[in-house]
Amino acid sequence: MKNVAEGKAKIIVPEESVSRNSCVFYNPGMAHARNAIVSFMSVFRKKADHDLVVCDPMAASGVRGIRLLKEVNGIEKVVFNDANPEAVELIKNNLELNKIPKEKYEIENKDCNLLFLERKREFDFIDIDPFGSPVNFLPNVWSALKKDASLAVSATDTGALSGSFRSTCENRYGVIAEKTDFFKEFGISTLVQTVVRELAKHDIVFSPLFSHTQHYFRVVGLTQKGKEKTHKNLENISLVSYCPECYSKEIGVLEKCPNCGKPNKIIGPMWVGKTKDSELCDEVLKDMISRGFRDTKDIYACTQEIDEPFYYDIHKICKNLKSEVPKLSDFFEKMENNGFQISRTHLSDLGFKTDAKIKDIEKILKSKL
Ligand SMILES: C[S@@+](CC[C@H](N)C(=O)[O-])C[C@H]1O[C@@H](n2cnc3c(N)ncnc32)[C@H](O)[C@@H]1O
Repeated sequence: MKNVAEGKAKIIVPEESVSRNSCVFYNPGMAHARNAIVSFMSVFRKKADHDLVVCDPMAASGVRGIRLLKEVNGIEKVVFNDANPEAVELIKNNLELNKIPKEKYEIENKDCNLLFLERKREFDFIDIDPFGSPVNFLPNVWSALKKDASLAVSATDTGALSGSFRSTCENRYGVIAEKTDFFKEFGISTLVQTVVRELAKHDIVFSPLFSHTQHYFRVVGLTQKGKEKTHKNLENISLVSYCPECYSKEIGVLEKCPNCGKPNKIIGPMWVGKTKDSELCDEVLKDMISRGFRDTKDIYACTQEIDEPFYYDIHKICKNLKSEVPKLSDFFEKMENNGFQISRTHLSDLGFKTDAKIKDIEKILKSKL
C-alpha cells in the first residue's frame, strides 16, 4: 500500500492500483474529472436551496466522495458503496485517515443496482464510474434520484461508444456506427442518448452540462422529473446522414450526399442536442481556477463552443481538397466574415464546429485565405 494526496484528500491505495485486477482501483489519470466534479458540485450546491446528499456507488478507494466531503461546502452526506469487500475496508480506513465525522457518511457493500432500488429518491447527485460500459448500471439509477438532481456517467469502452467496434456499438447501445471524422463526439453522443433513453422510460429528462474525453468518455448532466419535458427532449435524438467521402453531416435520412452526390451512410440514432451548458461551464471554470486546478482546457473550450452537432476535422477536409492546412485563426476569421458561426471544440484539438455546411467550408478553404 502507498499514500497518495489528491486535492485535499490523503488516501491509501494499493502499490499497483491502475488495473481492474488490482485489489482496489485508483487511477490518478481520473483526477481531472474528479477536480471538475468538485467544482461542479460547489456550483450546483450554490444553486440548490438545501445541502446535498451524494451517492458514490462504485467508490473503490473512496477518493471521489472523500474529496467532495472535504472540498465542497454544503454536502450533507455521502453514501459510499462498492461491490468489492476489500474496497469497502479501504474506504473505511481512508475516511478515518481524513477525519471525516461519522454522521457525514454511510458505507454499503452491495451491487449498486440493488442500492439504487433500495434508496428511493434519496440522492441529489450520483456518479456512475464503472470499469468498461455503464449499461448495466443505468436501468435502476432513476429510482435513487431526487426529483431535481444531477447524474454523472463515465465509460471506458471508448471503442464501442465511438463506433470503432461497430457490432459492439449496435449490440450494447442500439446505435448503428461507422468510422467517422468526429468519433469523439460520436462517442459522447452515444453515451448521452443512452442515458437520455434510459431515464426517459421513467419520465426523467437528462440535460448534459459538460463532458470529458480522455481514455474514457464522461458526461455530467441535470435530471428532472416531467413527462412533457422528457418527451420534448427526445426530439434531440435522430438518425444522421454521414458522407464518408466529403464528411458532410445532415440530421435526418438522405440517401445521397447533397455535397458530392456519393451514397450517405445512415448512422445513429444520435443525440443531436446540446452537449454542454456554456454558462454553467463558465461558473465551473471560475471555481476550478480559484482552487488552482491546472487542467481546465476542456471546460474552458466548453465555454467557447457553439451549440452545433458534429465537429469537422480541418486536416481531413484539407487532405480531401489537396490543399494546405491554413492557420486556424485565419480560417475562423474568413468563416466569420462570410457570416458563419465557428468555434473550436473541447472534443478534438483539430476539430471545429460551425453552422456552415461542408459545401461552404470547402468553398472558403479553396479560396485564398
Ligand atoms: C473504475 S472503479 C471506480 C473508481 C472510483 N470511482 C474512483 O474515482 O477512483 C469501479 C469500481 O466499481 C466496483 N464495482 C464493479 N461492479 C460493481 C457493482 N455491480 N456494484 C458496485 N460496485 C461495483 C469495482 O469494485 C470498482 O471498485
